[in-house]
Amino acid sequence: MFPEGFLWGAAISSFQAEMGLGRPSDRTDWWAWVHDPVNVEAKRVSGDTPLNGPGFWELYDEDLRRARDELGSNSVRLSIDWGRVFPEPTTGVESKVKCDHHGNVAEVELDRRVISKLKGLADMDAVGRYREILSSAKGHGLTPMVTLYHWPIPLWLHDPITCRDSLDESERTGWLDQGTITEFAKYSAFVADQMGDLIDLYATVNETRIVAEHGYLTERGEFPPGLNDPALFIKCMKHLSMAHGAAYQQIKRWDKEKASPLGPATVGVVVVLQAFKPDNPNRPEDVEASRFVEYMFNEWNLNAVFHGDYDMNADMVIQPGEQHPWLVKGCDYIGVNYYTKWRVRSRGVGGDPLLGFEFAPGKGQLSDYGWESYPWGLRKVVDWAYSRYRRPIYVTENGIADADDRLRARYLTSHLEELQKAIELDRVPVKGYYHWTLMDNFEWSDGYRIHFGLYRVDPENKARSPTKTVQAFKSIASTNSLPSKNR
Ligand code: BGC
Repeated sequence: MFPEGFLWGAAISSFQAEMGLGRPSDRTDWWAWVHDPVNVEAKRVSGDTPLNGPGFWELYDEDLRRARDELGSNSVRLSIDWGRVFPEPTTGVESKVKCDHHGNVAEVELDRRVISKLKGLADMDAVGRYREILSSAKGHGLTPMVTLYHWPIPLWLHDPITCRDSLDESERTGWLDQGTITEFAKYSAFVADQMGDLIDLYATVNETRIVAEHGYLTERGEFPPGLNDPALFIKCMKHLSMAHGAAYQQIKRWDKEKASPLGPATVGVVVVLQAFKPDNPNRPEDVEASRFVEYMFNEWNLNAVFHGDYDMNADMVIQPGEQHPWLVKGCDYIGVNYYTKWRVRSRGVGGDPLLGFEFAPGKGQLSDYGWESYPWGLRKVVDWAYSRYRRPIYVTENGIADADDRLRARYLTSHLEELQKAIELDRVPVKGYYHWTLMDNFEWSDGYRIHFGLYRVDPENKARSPTKTVQAFKSIASTNSLPSKNR
């Protein structure tokens, strides 16, 4: 058995799932990014548009009903699109920002007048629709986990094309600019004030490392703004870690209403933790590279959130000047996204270690993405995160790209077997599991080629059809246990 009150559900995000029917959200950096012809030409993005998405913005009620009736869920993870809520700039709304002696945004103070001004700027129709979605979840018996930042930023804060092409540092905005943290604090306060009566479980930031890596480090440059510079990667990680703290503080201040036993506000951060192994364990360079990647990708962000340790030169040592404990604002749980194991190979070129490694192809059973199924890694990362940071864990994403639906059901049960061992044998307080994803949707720079959904979606009429895993998920979620042969 899983623990009493365990939350079961599927996860989606706004940009990936909402569009396809109804009003598009076309005022974000991601919208500009995937529609940019230069990016399509350079194959940074697929050329697909979120306009052909599954249309959750209109079909939310039947999707949520399905999540309850057909999947047996008691929860759902979804996100709010910042650019829908604030299509126009909030920068003109005054707030009191205090910086520390390093120039870091340390406190953002917002009062009731600020919230009223934000209300004047917000798209209240969009807010109304989000309230309907959250009420529908509640009506179907689903506790919503709401992510505030699942990647798109309003275009007025980040023009990714200018940022990509300009050599002028002042035009490098978005998460390279601390002003974005202040605006994120305002947006978080506003959501907590306007929707807090319907939300008790918040995720501030989704996957700091992925945003930083794919936007600022990889050669393909597939996420906005497609830069390739280790210093910018670290800067983005730093500012996103601070953004978590700023949002945490605002949500705690502005959400005073309880919607469930988790209320009024349980607030955590979502990190992607993967298993890393040296490609060749007998090659010391690979062993060293693997340890380094594990530190930078799994640990760096959590050390910042929990200890205020910002290892800016990535030397794996925290110098006194890198310790900013006053930036620690709190984190009630750790959301763990787990997908796979990576084999790390040193490129042996010397120079910046952030550019000195690559991932070797996986072995064994591979998904359509080439990701190896490695269930034991889930137990490993969950154990690690709890033993180190001592917070309850939610598995906020876990799933497989599997267009033919050959591997998904086994992927699900094998990962849950390991999760159960973490709970029962290792005594980790895991509170919930969300499968990625409810229905096939817009897989970022790879568009619709990749199928993670528990439901397939007909691109023309948006009809959903279940994969074989729907039944398997239901029997687990509705009995709160794995079938006996899996135990
Ligand atoms: C993200 C999702 C994405 C999934 C599969 C995670 O990194 O949070 O938005 O679709 O992985 O790639």
